[in-house]
Amino acid sequence: MQKSLEMVKLPHFVSVENLSVTTVKALIQRATYFQQGGNVPVWSKPIYAANLFFENSTRTHCSFEMAESKLGLTAIPFDPAASSMQKGETLYDTLLTLNSIGVDLAVIRHSQNGYYRNLINLSANSQLNLGIVNAGDGSGQHPSQSLLDMLTIYQQFGHFDGLKIAIVGDLTNSRVARSNMQLLTRLGAEVYFSGPEYWYDQQEFSQYGQYLPIDQLIGQMDVMMLLRVQHERHANESQFDAQNYHQKYGLTNARYQQMKDKAIIMHPGPINRGIEIDSKLVEAPKSRFAQQMKNGVFMRMAMLEAVINGRHLGGR
Ligand code: CP
Repeated sequence: MQKSLEMVKLPHFVSVENLSVTTVKALIQRATYFQQGGNVPVWSKPIYAANLFFENSTRTHCSFEMAESKLGLTAIPFDPAASSMQKGETLYDTLLTLNSIGVDLAVIRHSQNGYYRNLINLSANSQLNLGIVNAGDGSGQHPSQSLLDMLTIYQQFGHFDGLKIAIVGDLTNSRVARSNMQLLTRLGAEVYFSGPEYWYDQQEFSQYGQYLPIDQLIGQMDVMMLLRVQHERHANESQFDAQNYHQKYGLTNARYQQMKDKAIIMHPGPINRGIEIDSKLVEAPKSRFAQQMKNGVFMRMAMLEAVINGRHLGGR
């Protein structure tokens, strides 16, 4: 990835579904440039962003705020609980309000899958003129997590071709699994799935990779990508047995010892220690959890810049 790739320009950044391999590589290159201390662009006018998080978040929310700060944007505080949405204002009308007072970009996390489609359709014939960056929608897409994961894998291996990558755990509820299985297969990696059968939907997942027990995968994989057990999305949570899950599907110390020398473990966070992973392994040599979080800031800078460019907000 030496040659300088074209500048990415997108009117919104809501999904990885239509991202080409060239675009992903350009974003990795741009995030790497920012990580290495490359100059941020000089904008021709002030650019304002608002971060609207309707689901809890630490990494994504703070990381977007950090990315905005490093890019020289001004973040306008928005708290859903203290907003007029509590009086019944719709999300569209909230965005129209923010846009009318000068906000150019809205970073949104929402529990509803695909919430952005309606907003983008409506904005085609309305006064709303604002870039939407999806910070995670229900169990749909998590493009910024997926792209920071691609950066982390690229930093480790320098390529994606033929890498064996297992996505393990709460698959059906996971926007991270959905985004990553799509991007990884497009980039040439071999994807495998593991975890409880009740969180595996063959019809949806089998087109992207094979489903196998973790003990058949662990010694063969280059990347073990663990997923958070999303307790808040489970109907029969009282039946969940953490110890049983850890022993059957989790990364125990015994399984860690079987991993290939150069293999890595990843997790989008937040981590349930002792469930997806033995607590002692969270900062083990093969763990890239902290690296993923560091990478998130620089990848989000690249994503925000792509939307600024796509909407010609900064004079470019
Ligand atoms: N990975 C991730 O989305 O974490 P947060 O929910 O803390 O943002």
